[in-house]
Amino acid sequence: MTTVAIVPAAGSGSRLGRRRPKQFLSVGRAPLVVRTLRVLAGVREVGGIVVAAPPEAVGATRRLLERFRVPRIVAVVPGGRERQESVWLALQVVPASTSLVVVHDAVRPFITGSLVRRVIGAARRHGAASCGVPVVETVKQVHDGKVEATVEREGLWLVQTPQAFHRSLLWEAHEKARSGGFVGTDDAVLVERLGIPVRMVPGLPENFKITTPADLARARTFAARGRR
Ligand code: CTP
Ligand code: MG
Repeated sequence: MTTVAIVPAAGSGSRLGRRRPKQFLSVGRAPLVVRTLRVLAGVREVGGIVVAAPPEAVGATRRLLERFRVPRIVAVVPGGRERQESVWLALQVVPASTSLVVVHDAVRPFITGSLVRRVIGAARRHGAASCGVPVVETVKQVHDGKVEATVEREGLWLVQTPQAFHRSLLWEAHEKARSGGFVGTDDAVLVERLGIPVRMVPGLPENFKITTPADLARARTFAARGRR
């Protein structure tokens, strides 16, 4: 069964607030996107990788990946305005002979090969899989600084990537979302909307998404400690 990875790396990083999109910022000796791609490229099951880059930075991204000698890059395509659109555009160049697609955010560099393999394995068996971690803190709904409700924590998970899907299922899920004007923040929700169950496998606490300046500082501390 052939597997291709899609890496959405076309965001602007507005919450991090740097001029350069966060996926191109260095953590240790390599840009974030390079670190992430190296892990994916090291997973035997991943036959190729499609990267979605900011449209104005497609050429620069190709050159960057060549300079850092990232293997198994099949294509770098221009991304879209939303993450969902970037994944969809990348999906267009995934060969039709591919059976499984694994989607992983460029800005989660502390992924491990074994987690990627666990998610791929679950998706092979069940069609669709995500990883995540159970919520450990109390969750409240707040409006205008006032608590409106306390949400039952039991059964709540914080969702991470990688997520993996049979290629045809991911395609169908994206098509349905597009035709209904639905925009989600991950790919699993698009499959859920087809009424198809998504398996959840335990992720890793260090597989956090670099979103804010504090996350970037944490990533640099991690990297300095030799966590790649
Ligand atoms: N992404 C993408 N295309 C977009 C938006 C996001 O490929 N139009 C990618 C990002 O590059 C990132 C991943 O999706 O690898 C997760 O998105 P997020 O953390 O929200 O990144 P940004 O959208 O860049 O950040 P922000 O929302 O703060 O602007
Ligand atoms: Mg975003």
